[in-house]
Amino acid sequence: MVTPLLQPASLSAPEFYSRLARLYDVLARRGPVVGRLREALVDALDPAPGATVVEFGCGTAANRPYVERALGPEGAYVGVDFSPGVLRVARERGAARGDPGRLVCGDATRPPLRAEAVDACCGAFVAGMLADPAAAVRGWADLVGPGGRIALLDLARTARAGWRALNPAFRLFVRGGSPPGTAQSLGRSPAAVQDERVAAAHRALREACADATYRTLAGGFGRVSAGTVE
Ligand SMILES: C[S@@+](CC[C@H](N)C(=O)[O-])C[C@H]1O[C@@H](n2cnc3c(N)ncnc32)[C@H](O)[C@@H]1O
Repeated sequence: MVTPLLQPASLSAPEFYSRLARLYDVLARRGPVVGRLREALVDALDPAPGATVVEFGCGTAANRPYVERALGPEGAYVGVDFSPGVLRVARERGAARGDPGRLVCGDATRPPLRAEAVDACCGAFVAGMLADPAAAVRGWADLVGPGGRIALLDLARTARAGWRALNPAFRLFVRGGSPPGTAQSLGRSPAAVQDERVAAAHRALREACADATYRTLAGGFGRVSAGTVE
């Protein structure tokens, strides 16, 4: 087998996201419709002013300004990610705005936080990367506890007539956005796995929250769920 010179045959997710952090940051902040999706996430999360909100898999913290706007000056945004490179970009942007922020290097499936310190949590475009997203969402619900808010934003193939023709392009988008070697290690299409993981995560949120809401956006590719943990 020939290993390409510039592109390793496989990269771990933290290596992949650390290497591509600056490029990812541009897409995360300026990509088409992404701002609307982020607004929909925070609208659905609807955190109380002054709350502490944790974002799992925060990447370059593109959601931070949206969350902070909802929280007001007394609130706190905490970002958790296991890729040091994205956290570096997130801290630089925060520092340029006067506050590097609270950004923690850790695993979203084993939250490195004290439960009593968290009022709400969210994950954006991360459920598809978790081997057991339902377990992770249950862990986040335990972290915020009864009365805490939880919200998810994800992308998956659409079922909407008129948009389904774009599913093959979406499949390529998911493949291109996955660390090299992902399709081989999964043994199946990354988009199919992402669909299943996203569905499992949103189902787990519905099971944890009696008042769960769910909506689709962006032609049915965007999924937003939110609720109050029972
Ligand atoms: C597609 S990016 C989304 C970033 C950000 N939430 C956004 O909206 O732009 C997924 C991020 O999740 C992080 N991630 C994936 N699995 C993780 C895990 N188990 N623990 C912590 N971070 C994780 C990756 O490092 C990456 O930064």
